Amino acid sequence: MTTLQMTAPASKTFSGHTFSVDSVRQDFPILATMARGRPLVYLDNAATTLKPKSVVDAVEKHLLLGASNVHRGVHYLSEKATAEFEASREAVRAFLNAKEKAEIIFTAGTTASINLVANSYGSMLKPGDEIVISAMEHHSNIVPWQMLCERQGLVLRVAPINDRGELLMDEFEKLIGSRTRLVAVVAVSNALGTVNPIKDIIDLAHSRDVPVLLDAAQAVAHMPIDVQALGVDFVAFSSHKLFGPTGLGVLYGRRELLDRMPPFLGGGDMIKSVTFAKTLYADLPAKFEAGTPHIAGVIGLGAAIKYVQTVGLQQIAAAEAELLEYGTKRLKEIEGLKLIGEAQHKTSILGFVLDDVHPHDIGTILDQEGIAIRAGHHCTQPLMDRFKVPATARASLAFYNTKHEIDALVAAIIKVQRLFA
Ligand code: ALA
Repeated sequence: MTTLQMTAPASKTFSGHTFSVDSVRQDFPILATMARGRPLVYLDNAATTLKPKSVVDAVEKHLLLGASNVHRGVHYLSEKATAEFEASREAVRAFLNAKEKAEIIFTAGTTASINLVANSYGSMLKPGDEIVISAMEHHSNIVPWQMLCERQGLVLRVAPINDRGELLMDEFEKLIGSRTRLVAVVAVSNALGTVNPIKDIIDLAHSRDVPVLLDAAQAVAHMPIDVQALGVDFVAFSSHKLFGPTGLGVLYGRRELLDRMPPFLGGGDMIKSVTFAKTLYADLPAKFEAGTPHIAGVIGLGAAIKYVQTVGLQQIAAAEAELLEYGTKRLKEIEGLKLIGEAQHKTSILGFVLDDVHPHDIGTILDQEGIAIRAGHHCTQPLMDRFKVPATARASLAFYNTKHEIDALVAAIIKVQRLFA
């Protein structure tokens, strides 16, 4: 067990900033804990990221000393909570480089954000209109569109990928026709790690007057998403994959589109006035935020963004690129192991199958070694079908992981092989 502690790597300098894995690991107390009697090796960051102490402190401080509703009270606590809540919205705006705070809508997660667009923007579409997605989408960027298609007689088109897990841009281009009303694609695949050419996708769609929704759930913790530089129309992501609390997400939308869209959920806080004869809706962002929001979560997300900015997304990306390169090399040394997802441009995900061993068995045996990975279809069943596998084992990395943890993963996989030989 001391191997991990004794051989922790030294500080690295990326782009003039010093990044020390030792020091960032201190920010995540859970990394010093044990699992099944072994030092925890957390390689399930695509399922959810760990939370730094500063995020937990911010949530705790609000709940213990500042709990109050927002946008409603005239009293001290409510004013304070509202100010903190809105400061987090500003932090998200700055993080995405959105033009204005009103374009940042808080939701329950990426899934809720995409459902909002499917129900609201979708309600303005006509039978025969088309939505284009890709073959590597998460169920949350498939099922809401299928439901919309069923309700309103729309057509869902799916852009294919190659065997490395890369989008076939020529085929994608062919699918954007005169009836296409939205392109909805994932920025980074949660199952493959593929980083899609999002700027090219957006430019192509825009050249045909088609708006683009980016599922950035798996991207936000690993690369900058600048909505103005990209010119993107909608971006959905979850707080919990960005070191923040669960149960909270963000929908960025361009004002021009959000203004035209009808509300999705009705209720308190999303209105200007209500009579039994007629309700007038609030302006953005309240129009899309019915009901008491996840106040503590939003405050926690603000702290998470501050944390990421302190470490630096560039440093994070550089540290993860090095880990990914090392992990890919080490896993490829294992005979009988096949990586699923070998895109030229990928990040943080090592999905694989091993001989005839079911991924669930791999996950269970690794768990006995204190190693947390995810095994299953990763909410991407059509993608598993594309690769003709029922499931994969997936190690997903974050900047606080180490090469020594990857070595522990490799040793445990070899143990699995021996057990099943
Ligand atoms: N979508 C999450 C994952 O990839 C939960 O595991």
